[in-house]
Amino acid sequence: MANHHTALTPSGPRLPAFAQRLVRWQRAHGRHDLPWQVSDPYRVWLSEIMLQQTQVATVVPYFERFVAAFPTVADLAAASLDQVLAHWAGLGYYSRARNLHKAAQMVMACFAGQFPDSAAVLAELPGIGRSTAAAIAGFCFAERTPILDGNVKRVLARWAGVEGFPGEKAVEKQLWVWAEALLPESAADMPAYTQGLMDLGASLCSRSKPACAACPLRDDCRAHIEGRQAELPTRKPKRVVPERATCMLLIRHGDRILLEKRPPTGIWGGMWGLPEVADSAAALAWCESQGLRVKLGAAGPALLHVFTHFRLTIVPQAIEVLGEAGRVAEGAYQWYRLHDALEAAIPVPVRKLLLQQGSGLD
Ligand code: ADE
Repeated sequence: MANHHTALTPSGPRLPAFAQRLVRWQRAHGRHDLPWQVSDPYRVWLSEIMLQQTQVATVVPYFERFVAAFPTVADLAAASLDQVLAHWAGLGYYSRARNLHKAAQMVMACFAGQFPDSAAVLAELPGIGRSTAAAIAGFCFAERTPILDGNVKRVLARWAGVEGFPGEKAVEKQLWVWAEALLPESAADMPAYTQGLMDLGASLCSRSKPACAACPLRDDCRAHIEGRQAELPTRKPKRVVPERATCMLLIRHGDRILLEKRPPTGIWGGMWGLPEVADSAAALAWCESQGLRVKLGAAGPALLHVFTHFRLTIVPQAIEVLGEAGRVAEGAYQWYRLHDALEAAIPVPVRKLLLQQGSGLD
């Protein structure tokens, strides 16, 4: 990879390095008054865990109550899990609190109450992933190691023009390479640089309508140069959901309609549905197989029902039984009056069809 400590704009003059511009911007425009911007790794660690899935504004009061109750890692380790969970209540994702408690006990037992001072060792503690470990090590020990949380992925994907959904392993790997390459040369800049990436991602470089005019990185930001801020980072690909089709038989006998108890497993397991065949051409054969003499009515219009894992096109086929109902209502089948059918456990599209097509039933 090229040297990214300096960059060329398309029009010429050399720009200060990415990191230098970001650090300068952080010092002038970034956040400096957050309650965890202190040198105590315990507080930094706690804040990073709280901030993993929760916004700064929500975290601040929780953080303050938490450190008031457990001022040191020793206090946290000595507390009961119930006490810890009580102070976490409302923040959600409670495995974070359980891991926090466990990690505090490990810091006491394995590290004599001293926080490990490298990202590699920090990442061995429960609840601390690669990026969180790097944030703690960068803030507290000025270690030259990159962070890469959701916001930073957006900043880097835009600036470097990295294509592909960052949730994909290969794309994430590429972003880690960039994150590594863009670090400031001087370790002393690590706290401001790390905070700068977070602050830029949380403010100017927002998902929609980023404020590029104020951005220190815009002159060599690929997304800005190419006007592709809305396309980068690439969105999560939409799953292609398979299409299925079925034909539901609305078989009337006088004022009754035939329902079928569905098997206990699979879609609509155990509910009452309409008898189904592959398509309306198969409807007559099905009735004959049941010993029913029938007259086919109209088919359609089709109904689309969307499940999480597939889309089902339902063609309704109206059928009228001539003469006796035969033996069909034995076992899994039952003749229902319309209003009784609507009271039974029936799936939504079956309800729609009964209401639509069965309006003349009672
Ligand atoms: N999100 C995660 N870590 C943060 C920090 N240190 N400051 C602000 N927002 C953050």
